[in-house]
Amino acid sequence: MAVLELLQGDITCLKVDAIVNAANSSLLGGGGVDGAIHRAAGPELLAECQKIAEHRKNHPAGACPTGEAVITGPGRLPCKKVIHTVGPIWYGGTQREPSLLAACYRNSLLLAQERELESIAFPNISTGVYGYPKAAAAEIAIKTVKASLFETPGIKQVIFVCYDQENYELYKNLADVW
Ligand code: APR
Repeated sequence: MAVLELLQGDITCLKVDAIVNAANSSLLGGGGVDGAIHRAAGPELLAECQKIAEHRKNHPAGACPTGEAVITGPGRLPCKKVIHTVGPIWYGGTQREPSLLAACYRNSLLLAQERELESIAFPNISTGVYGYPKAAAAEIAIKTVKASLFETPGIKQVIFVCYDQENYELYKNLADVW
């Protein structure tokens, strides 16, 4: 069974097999953790994302639809791979946000398993610009990761990386149930 860990800090510094980026469906970068990852990774990462976006330009839902995940190299980051997933924008909970957020965590783990990656670090997807209530998002993150690990036996370590204090406190309080 994989080890679940909690960390407060900057996901771009982690020397894990994969860090997960909270991207947008264009895959062409943005602010928040997406901006931090692209800044630390350098132009190579954007170039790889642009190739994926070009290849999927006829997709109606954009290069990476909400809830799905794609994988790239790390550019100059210390990790081996970056998994880009697109979280739901919070519209009040009436637009399938919970299941789409859960899909981000599950699809990222399935992709990591498929690529034989063993350690993966998640940011608090959708809880920044996309406005997802942090407490609800934290519960979905932990529950979905725990459930998905039965399908991804190759995953040995999952790190929840909280950048802001509020998320960190929420995850810390939930940690005793994980
Ligand atoms: N390391 C870890 N977590 C970080 C970092 C970092 N360096 N920087 C920010 N975060 C945290 C935020 O504190 C927040 O808790 O990532 C979480 C997700 O927030 P956002 O990055 O705003 O992502 P999200 O809410 O999913 O919105 C995605 O924002 O940046 C754009 O291109 C992105 O359009 C997309 C949207």
